[in-house]
Amino acid sequence: MYGNDFVDPDEALNAAETGDYEAALSQHAEGGLDRGEGDDASFDALIARDLRIEPRDAMPEEYRETLIRQIAQHAHSEIIGMQPEGNWITRAPSLRRKAILMAKVQDEAGHGLYLYSAAETLGVDRAELLDRLHSGKQKYSSIFNYPALTWADAGAIGWLVDGAAIMNQVPLCRCSYGPYGRAMIRVCKEESFHQRQGFEILWSLMQGTEEQRAMAQDAVNRTWWPALMMFGPPDTGEAATTGGHTEQSMAWGIKRFSNDDLRQKFVDMTVPQAQKLGLTLPDPDLRWNAETGHWDFGAVDWGEFWQVVKGNGPMNAQRLAHRVRAHEEGAWVREAATVHAAKRARGARQEVAA
Ligand SMILES: [Fe+2]
Ligand SMILES: [Fe+2]
Repeated sequence: MYGNDFVDPDEALNAAETGDYEAALSQHAEGGLDRGEGDDASFDALIARDLRIEPRDAMPEEYRETLIRQIAQHAHSEIIGMQPEGNWITRAPSLRRKAILMAKVQDEAGHGLYLYSAAETLGVDRAELLDRLHSGKQKYSSIFNYPALTWADAGAIGWLVDGAAIMNQVPLCRCSYGPYGRAMIRVCKEESFHQRQGFEILWSLMQGTEEQRAMAQDAVNRTWWPALMMFGPPDTGEAATTGGHTEQSMAWGIKRFSNDDLRQKFVDMTVPQAQKLGLTLPDPDLRWNAETGHWDFGAVDWGEFWQVVKGNGPMNAQRLAHRVRAHEEGAWVREAATVHAAKRARGARQEVAA
């Protein structure tokens, strides 16, 4: 697909390269999500028929708020997620690696933009969402509160973190809220490139020296468990969250699979790739279960997960401080853009008047 010679180009490396994504894509392309003329366009009728809710439609307040929260958290994750790898742009080992990494980090900024725009269609202001991020009222994915210590982290992040993100995002291409689903179609395609470039970084390191292989293994050891945490708390048991968010989101067609189902799909897809790379996944309980047809894996440390969510991860404070500083330093750009836009609008009005 990208001219890689290390894996069969027809072999799916991530969820955006599977039939699930293709199905979502053709549903959008063929207008299979559009309602017919004279159809019952009430919220319940649209949800029951798996049709899209659009910004002009009436919707329950709770649905609107759930989406604002979810899309905002997603947007925040995209832009905070620029930091761990952004850290390596100046130190990438070659011009080629630098150009690829720069493109990847820019893509993440673009994802943030699509998502803030999608959230704005629900009647919330982007500046308000950024305030909520900066004041800690809204969260971003806890994975970005871990440091990227070596160049191999750029590989492990692309392969595992983008890979896990895609597993979450492919079902969101069919989200009942139109603007979010459409944003995901494009985001997933770009994430797929991110995941391949991460895989390729690790592949190259694994063909290298002893030290390079050790560096790749170390990055994977540190990234594996936090990547599994990206699917959120388990569906059942002690560590499960209460409150029925998942059930409600599933009934509304926002969420399509439970956290544990997505986590299992990710493990099943990733283990054979680790074998191909020659890397070990840091889980002594990982073994193929012929009965279920899935890989069994060990217990995730949910205590660590909640600590990081609460703000006690190794990088929480630094990530947020960096984000706030970048926002403050960018104030003049926003002011200039606003003045420019107003000028252009005035110009356009004068033209119309003339
Ligand atoms: Fe992204
Ligand atoms: Fe990405």
